[in-house]
Amino acid sequence: MTTKTYDLAVIGGGPGGYVAGIRAGQLGLKAVVIEAEELGGVCLNVGCIPSKAFITAGKDLKHAAHGATKGLHFGKSEVKMPELVSYKDGVVKKLTGGVGGLLKAAKTDVLRGRATFTAKDTLKVEGKDACTVKAKQVIVATGSSTIEIPGFAFDEKRIISSTGALELQEVPKHLVIIGGGVIGLELGCAYANLGTEKVTVIEMMDQLVPGVDKEVAKSLERTLKKRGFDLHLGARAKGAKVTKGGVKVTFEAKGKEQTLDASYCLVSVGRRPNTKDLGLEKAGVQLDERGFVPTDAQGRTNVSSVFAIGDITHGPMLAHKASKEGIVAAEAASGDKASAKDWVTIPGVIFTDPEIATAGLTEEQCKDQGLDYKVGKFNVAALGKALADNETDGFFKVLGDAKSDKVLGVHIIGAHASDMISEAVLALEMGATVEDLGLTVHPHPTMAEGLMEAAEALHGKAVHAVNR
Ligand code: NAI
Repeated sequence: MTTKTYDLAVIGGGPGGYVAGIRAGQLGLKAVVIEAEELGGVCLNVGCIPSKAFITAGKDLKHAAHGATKGLHFGKSEVKMPELVSYKDGVVKKLTGGVGGLLKAAKTDVLRGRATFTAKDTLKVEGKDACTVKAKQVIVATGSSTIEIPGFAFDEKRIISSTGALELQEVPKHLVIIGGGVIGLELGCAYANLGTEKVTVIEMMDQLVPGVDKEVAKSLERTLKKRGFDLHLGARAKGAKVTKGGVKVTFEAKGKEQTLDASYCLVSVGRRPNTKDLGLEKAGVQLDERGFVPTDAQGRTNVSSVFAIGDITHGPMLAHKASKEGIVAAEAASGDKASAKDWVTIPGVIFTDPEIATAGLTEEQCKDQGLDYKVGKFNVAALGKALADNETDGFFKVLGDAKSDKVLGVHIIGAHASDMISEAVLALEMGATVEDLGLTVHPHPTMAEGLMEAAEALHGKAVHAVNR
């Protein structure tokens, strides 16, 4: 078998790995990205990007229907799922092709195959480009996989993961979702907008999207209920049985067992790190008890020439977190001692309808850490732009340190929250005060004015709200 020699080998071509590969090439390292499937990983192929095609299509349809209130009448609408699926496939193809082009431009090689460690500096690649890779340093960026739970074995036809949910050839009449987290609610909202008559959510905890600021999660819960979602919190999923043309789902809520007839059952109860069968033990890399790889602030594992980034490491399982870690690890591999990651500035965005976006600490975290904090809030409904757009659900929430006035956290629920949160991330990155946010002139009329108003509200100075 041929042996190829590199300064840096990256295992996995997702948003962590391919970004690391590009930065390594830019820094002059002789680098390779080894990918067993498609470049772009879960995010580009079966996650963030393809789901947006569905989410946006759903919103388009909703806006068309709401158009009637503004005097716009489009006639009868029809959703042709096979066409939407093929549109989504086209978007994915364009993007994954683009990633290949960027790696090429950075002079980073791509090998197609599955890599396993045989030693800390040696990888065996099996598959199309089978070979041995010798690398001075290695970045492991193998991502995560959907968790399967007992009683809900995926057939990807009726009992589906997010991957199956993005391939449906029809709009489900009744969609049952196990797990009221990010994936379940994003896809639940997308399908509700695309015409699903009933969405039932079975969530184990007593809050939707656990980990999100409680007040924001509660607001989402109210909005979804208003839209007709059947929400069961504190519920236990027991099993699913495929029937002719559907699936029977059994669960327990409030001490009572119930069975529902659904068209499809989406199981989205979390993801686990892909750290098995990689030969990490042969490289001497240690895992924690949950299978994650502990690292330092540059992504180095206990073996200093091996880095780990993205979903296999601690912290949120998010594409942009993986990409940032990829950049830091590639810079560290090229000798940069200063480059480091900082999770405080990793925002979270949930593409539900309305969207949720968060940066920094939640109010619960401020309490747990015993911080002396203040809260400023502003309702989306008070914004002229929101009224004109007929998108009035939600609010802005700013948390600031009571003494220093430093921004501690920002939480937004409402239309376009995902586009507005970066301002809060910049504020956190720069160590800005809440006063800075309030003093910043925001163009009128925009949704982002809500952030300025919430910051002003923290000091009792919001202009377009009664300060209490
Ligand atoms: P998640 O961790 O967001 O939600 C899983 C939910 O399932 C939790 O609410 C949990 O309490 C519940 N659960 C667990 N076991 C259960 C059971 N047996 N019965 C009922 N409920 C149960 O995980 P999800 O939605 O699968 O997403 C996986 C990962 O992908 C997350 O880490 C998420 O951050 C990431 N992701 C991020 C996106 C974004 O940032 N927009 C989009 C999609 C995924």
